[in-house]
This record gives sequence, structure tokens and C-alpha cells, in this order.
Amino acid sequence: WIGIAGLCLVPYELQCFLIHHHHHLLHFRNLVETPDQFSYRNLQMASSTLICDMEQWKDLKAHVDEIKKTHLRELMSDTNRCNSMMVEFDGILLDYSRQCATLETMDKLFKLAEAAGLKEKINRMFNGERINSTENRCVLHVALRAPRDAVINCDGKNTVPDVWQVLDKIREFSERVRSGSWVGATGRPLKDVVAIGIGGSFLGPLFVHTALQTDPEASEFARGRQLRFLANVDPIDVARNITGLNPETTLVVVVSKTFTTAETMLNARTLREWISSALGPEAVAKHMVAVSTNLTLVEQFGIDPNNAFAFWDWVGGRYSVCSAVGVLPLSLQYGFSVVEKFLQGASSIDKHFYSAPFDQNLPVLLGLLSIWNVSFLGHPARAILPYSQSLEKLAPHIQQVSMESNGKGVSIDGVALPYESGEIDFGEPGTNGQHSFYQLIHQGRVVPCDFIGVVKSQQPVYLKGEVVSNHDELMSNFFAQPDALAYGKTPQQLQNENVPQHLVPHKTFPGNRPSLSLLLPSLSAYNIGQLLAIYEHRIAVEGFVWGINSFDQWGVELGKSLASQVRKQLHASRKKGETVEGFNFSTTTMLKRYLEGSAD
Ligand code: F6P
Repeated sequence: WIGIAGLCLVPYELQCFLIHHHHHLLHFRNLVETPDQFSYRNLQMASSTLICDMEQWKDLKAHVDEIKKTHLRELMSDTNRCNSMMVEFDGILLDYSRQCATLETMDKLFKLAEAAGLKEKINRMFNGERINSTENRCVLHVALRAPRDAVINCDGKNTVPDVWQVLDKIREFSERVRSGSWVGATGRPLKDVVAIGIGGSFLGPLFVHTALQTDPEASEFARGRQLRFLANVDPIDVARNITGLNPETTLVVVVSKTFTTAETMLNARTLREWISSALGPEAVAKHMVAVSTNLTLVEQFGIDPNNAFAFWDWVGGRYSVCSAVGVLPLSLQYGFSVVEKFLQGASSIDKHFYSAPFDQNLPVLLGLLSIWNVSFLGHPARAILPYSQSLEKLAPHIQQVSMESNGKGVSIDGVALPYESGEIDFGEPGTNGQHSFYQLIHQGRVVPCDFIGVVKSQQPVYLKGEVVSNHDELMSNFFAQPDALAYGKTPQQLQNENVPQHLVPHKTFPGNRPSLSLLLPSLSAYNIGQLLAIYEHRIAVEGFVWGINSFDQWGVELGKSLASQVRKQLHASRKKGETVEGFNFSTTTMLKRYLEGSAD
């Protein structure tokens, strides 16, 4: 009441402002009243309407109770509903009928997307606007896989010719290395590659490499060659990756967008030493190449600029696998023509994402369902469950793409979010995961699951005397698990099976657990590209609707700068015997123990 009385005393315009922004102001108040060192005052200045203030969001909130009343068993009995929840594009079938959603829910989600300006935001991304506003950058990973004749502008300049210039350079270089016309310092061909990089400069290429490794067509091209990834600054990772390699026949590719990442640069110096101590310092020119946006630093490091492969600041690290970051190491291993098919698969999804109506648009549907699960049904996690061992690195890659993109605390305009964004991604291939964490997702917490299956295995096996092929065996589980989650098993069913009464509660499955299934025709390079792009765009859709910036990653900086203080202390203590100072009691105690225990 005091607030309302006070409001009457302020001018009309200010009243309108306060009423319109009361939501943010309440948030602001909550934030400044906490003892946090960091003030959100400035953030609050840049307030804008949040999606949760819109009618369409509230409408979905009101719809939740209705959905919670209906068990998936019931929803699944409506064939028309299920039929409408199956969408196919370019050989990939999406079935989202096991989501706790009706057609009415979908309709409301499409309205939410409209209210969020999803279509405009997608267009702004493809049109090369600087949608990554905190870094003042365009977001154009779609240009990396665009056909040669496409036009995708950034600041009025077509990016596609630059992309193809680098791709042509990779094609030429990788062919020289693979054919043995590019040789090492002692005249021997380079048959092994160690790619040094971390985060986005590692996880995407590792995912694609792991998936291609067992593809008969791709692996034929990789015969006699090895591709390894050195990511962690842990000396154990160095040891693992150089064990069994001969510097004479090894090419090191240093992959870093910034060329300043501490871990990557230390690993690069370590392998430079490994090469030059074995073959002399001049050998570095033949045995080390780089991928970066910072060609000046590449040269300062001692790598010939002719052996550097560029990309651009409009490619986010976690979206960079289609740039030289992935294309160079993968082309060295499999040949450029295989990698080109991977790019074409991603490009096919880009066109689909840009042009398909929302109700037929795979990434849009997936993104909106994630919003539904996280923000409305309250399920913060997502399990990524590919029924193919070759996709074992999909979940680790998507973890970065998703969690680094969407794990944000403020809107793109800097307003503290009153709802949580992002989801916790984890996963393992089936059936391995079934023998690990599926207990929790069947009877414990509700975790929406992505099941990914493949019609034709990369490695078909049929043992004589077996009932089904090994792939059929795997896929039997792929088809069974979503139903087990959706339908569950009732006490009544258990009693009918004469299960002893005391075990009935333990053997009951509540069901009503959402999942979706993606069925791919095979796992060729092309399909792997499609899968990658589906996930990339799904994550962008989520961020666009949540109203956040999915393309920056300020949350990784604080830890990095604190580590640099510790690094300085370790150096000062070891070299000059300086005592540990300037840290809290806990860190001081731990550091002292570490220094004492690890002294030479
Ligand atoms: O972890 C933060 C991060 O900046 C990621 O976004 C990025 O992919 C990774 O580090 C590696 O960065 P760079 O390619 O510049 O070495």
C-alpha cells in the first residue's frame, strides 16, 4: 500500500515504466538485497520484456495441470495424435509421440515461438546480423557448410568464398600429406596426426572421428593412418597420446580459435619440444600446422603462416567442427571427399531449419519440446541415448554445445532470468547405459530422453544359429525402452503375474516418462552431419525462445583467472620459496599441502 501511495506521487510516464517493469524490478530488488559482491544494478538498466511475462508463456503454465492429469498410456492410444507427432525429413524420422504433450500443447508451443520472435531470430542468424551482442559478433556456422555458390553475408561481405578458399587449401594439403608428397624432416611420410585442442576445438572433431571410424567407406580411406586428440593439460593425456608414435611420421595440428587457451598452448609447446628434441628445431615447419582465427599468434609460436588454416570470429568454438577445426584433422584421416559429405549433411539440415514450417521443422520441434520439458514440466536434465557405439562421443559434444550455450543467468539484454535456462545433458550409448543409469530414469527421477537409432548398421553381423542379427538385438532395446518409460507397469499387472505382494511396490514402474526417438537411415558421413546440425539448431531454438545469448560463454572466465593467480603462486613458491599468500584459509591449506607433497 505504501508502494501504491508512493506511485501516485511520481509522474505518469514513470508510473507506466514501473508498472511495465515491476517484474524485473522485483528481481532487481531480490538481487541487490543479497550480500553478493556483484551488483546487478547496471544489468537492470537494460531491461526488456521477458518471455515469461507474455500471455503465451502464462497460457502454457496454465496448461501444465491438464497435461499432468493425463498419463502417456492414454495419450499413446490416440493414433491420430501419434501420427501427427511423426515428422520426416531427408531420411530422418522423428517420433515425439511419447512426449507428455497433446496437439493442443504443440499449438501453444508454436504460439510461444511466435511470441518469442523465433522466425525473425533464425532469419537474423542466417542474415549475418550480430546476434551475439555481448561479443559483437555474427553467428554464421551455417556458412561453413554452405554450397560454393551460396551467398551468406557478414557485414555486407559474402563469407562463402573465404570458407571455400580454406576448404580448397585443406583439400590440397590433406591430399599432399596422405599421398606422401608432403614428408617429414627425415623424408618419411606423415601417417599419424595428433590434434591438440580443447572444448569446441576438440569435442566436435572427436565426435565425428569416432562416428566415422567404423563407417566402412570412411575407414577404407583411413587405412594405415591414426588420428589422436590431445585435449587435457594433464601430463597423463600427453603420455597417452604420444605413446607409440614416432615424431618422424607424426603431424601435429594445433587447434585453437584464440591461440591463447592455456591448456592448448602448453600442450603445443610440449609437442613442439617432443618434435624438436627428436628431429631438431627446423623440423617444426614440417611437423606442425595450426588452425586458428589468430594467425599472428600462430606465426609468433613458430608455425609457418602458410601452414595455418584460418577461420573467423563469426564461428563460435563449440559450433566450429565444420570449420578447419574439424575439417583439417578429419580430412587428414579420411580424405576431403568423405568430410565434404559430412558438410553436405549438415547443410541439408540448415536449409530445412531455415525454411520448413515449425510443425515440420526437426530442430524447432526438438527445441520447443525441450522448453516444454524444462520450463513447464520442470525436468532439468536430458539424456542423449544413441543406440550405436559409433555415437559414443555425441553426448560429450552436445554437453558443451548445449550447456555452454544455454546455461545462462541473464537474458540477452542483461536482465536476471526469473526462470532457469539450459538443461543438464548427459548420455551413453545403449545398451551400455541400460546397465548403468537407466534404473534412475525408469523408477527414480524423470529425465526426458532422446533415443537415437540407426536402420542400417555400419557393421552388420549375423551369427549363425542366433535368432536375430546383432544389430536387431541392439535395436530391440531401442524400440522397447521408450515404451517401458512411457507405459510403465502397474501394481495390477504385477498382481496378475502373481508377483509377491511385498515386491509389488519395488517392481512397479510409474511410466509417464517422456522421450523422443530419432531414426536415421544409416550412419554415413552425410547422416553424421545431419545429426550434428539438428542438435546445433535445436539448442539455438531453445536459446532464442528463452531470450538468452546462446553464443557467448562468460561463465568460463572466472575459473580461468583464478587459476592464473594460483599458477603465479605455484611458480613463486617453487622458484623463490615465497609463502602462500592472498588466498582464503581453505585454498591456502590445500596449496601448502600440495607444494609440500610435490616438492622435488
Ligand atoms: O572453455 C571455454 C572455451 O573458450 C570454449 O568456448 C572453447 O571452445 C574452448 O575454450 C577452446 O578455445 P580455443 O579454441 O580458443 O582454444
